[in-house]
This record gives sequence, C-alpha cells and structure tokens, in this order.
Amino acid sequence: MKTCTAIALISFAVVAALVATSMATNSTWGTRGYYDRLIYRTQVVRKSELWRKISVDVDFPVKQAYNPYPITQVVAIDHKRKDGGYAVLTKGGPGYRNVTLHIKSERNHGLNYTVEIYGR
Ligand SMILES: *[C@@H]1O[C@H](CO)[C@@H](O)[C@H](O)[C@H]1NC(C)=O
Ligand SMILES: *[C@@H]1O[C@H](CO)[C@@H](O)[C@H](O)[C@H]1NC(C)=O
Ligand SMILES: *[C@@H]1O[C@H](CO)[C@@H](O)[C@H](O)[C@H]1NC(C)=O
Repeated sequence: MKTCTAIALISFAVVAALVATSMATNSTWGTRGYYDRLIYRTQVVRKSELWRKISVDVDFPVKQAYNPYPITQVVAIDHKRKDGGYAVLTKGGPGYRNVTLHIKSERNHGLNYTVEIYGR
C-alpha cells in the first residue's frame, strides 16, 4: 500500500514537471521526399487573451480552390520557445489533397506558428 502511494506520488511529480515546462514543439505528419515541393505556407500569429485558450483552424486549400498535388507532409513549427501550443490534424493530411489543422494555445498564451504543406 505504501509503495503504491509512493509510486503514485512520484508519477504525479513527473507528470507535473512535464506539464510545467511545456516546451514548444514542432509537429510533422508524413514524410517528404527529395522531389516534393512546398505547396503552401502560412503564418499563424495570435495575441494572448487572458484566461483564454486560442484555437485556430488552418484549412488547405483555401476556399473552393483545387489542389492538384497529393500532400506528402504537413509541418507545424511552433516559434515560441516555451508555452507553445499544440496542433492536431483534424481532416485530410498526407495522402489527401486537403488538410485541416487545428492549433490551440495554452491558456493565457498566444500563438506563433508556421504551417508548411508539402506535396508532389
Ligand atoms: C522547430 O523548427 C524550427 C524550424 O525548423 C527550429 O528552428 C526549432 O528549433 C524547432 N523547435 C523544436 C522544439 O524542435
Ligand atoms: C513569430 O516568430 C517569428 C520567427 O521566429 C518572429 O520573427 C516573429 O517576431 C514572431 N512574432 C511574434 C508576434 O511573436
Ligand atoms: C477534402 O476532403 C473532403 C473529405 O474530408 C473531400 O470530400 C473533398 O473532396 C476534399 N477536397 C479536395 C480538394 O481534395
């Protein structure tokens, strides 16, 4: 029983430490080959808002435009060194011709992301 409590406390401390340092990370989906080219790049910059998490959806292609290149890689670069957000792929991505990326900030923090989409 005691060891269980100790283990629980230690794992809690480890998780807390990980959350506290919340490093900004880049995310990539898929891989790109030598002949793939950058088909879209956009910068997502949002100011922080008190008590709020900021969410942004990045859609490609924009509006009804047609993208003839199958996507091979999607890259989300977080320019913040700490208190970065996170990005999730919600639609499409590698293997598709379109993609929707959902980017969310930490509470009380803004966003500074570059999204790059490569295709062939
Ligand atoms: C994210 O990518 C950028 C540009 O490639 C790089 O400068 C930065 O160090 C990367 N950050 C992390 C946490 O890997
Ligand atoms: C976002 O990151 C870019 C690249 O590091 C930097 O040049 C720019 O000043 C940053 N913008 C904000 C609003 O922090
Ligand atoms: C984008 O994805 C949706 C399904 O998620 C699909 O119906 C649509 O045809 C796609 N558009 C393009 C341009 O590939």
